[in-house]
Amino acid sequence: MIIAVDGPTASGKGTIAKALAAHFGVPHLDTGLLYRAVGYHCARTGGDVNDPAAATAACAFPESLLAEPELRSEATGGLASRVSVHPQVRAALLERQRAFARQPGGAVLDGRDIGTVIAPEAKVKLFVTASVAARAMRRWNEMRERGEDHTLAGIEADLHRRDERDRTRAEAPLVAAPDAILLDTSALGRDAAIARAIALAEQALRAH
Ligand code: C5P
Repeated sequence: MIIAVDGPTASGKGTIAKALAAHFGVPHLDTGLLYRAVGYHCARTGGDVNDPAAATAACAFPESLLAEPELRSEATGGLASRVSVHPQVRAALLERQRAFARQPGGAVLDGRDIGTVIAPEAKVKLFVTASVAARAMRRWNEMRERGEDHTLAGIEADLHRRDERDRTRAEAPLVAAPDAILLDTSALGRDAAIARAIALAEQALRAH
């Protein structure tokens, strides 16, 4: 049983994916973290994230990097969004994600292209969205908790830029799979969004 959870930054997809994995008792992969590790490793080793060769070389990042707290920062999110436009980078990360998706017993993966490219065969596909205002407010709260100081307007502008880059790239753009179920979390709190996602996933599994 593969569950694909796609959507833009700060839509709530990560929280929902983790809760679905716990509910169904299967492992979860945050695929954004892989792109974040590539972007961070590339910049840290002096590479230019806009250069396909440098970004592709950074796909051989050390595994221990995945535990680095700096990967979660807004700055690293920007680097991730830049390396993710290179088809070579996407190809280098493809097999790892597919193998995770197809492990016996199933898995939950969240990202941008899980339902369209990584696991088009997924039995459950959720596309999680929320208004830019709702996403910016969530991101702002998360950042305040981490001690990062950003203005709401700055975060909104950054979300717009990231969405635009993710939606308009030629390779695996951020788009809902035709058979994905849309879940708008703008007006839902954390628990309500999780409950709705579980209900939708169970309904989709029953229909299969
Ligand atoms: O989800 P998260 O904000 O951690 O993702 C960081 C960036 O990585 C995204 O803006 C996107 O450009 C890229 N990404 C992607 N495909 C995925 C997951 C993330 O292109 N499956």
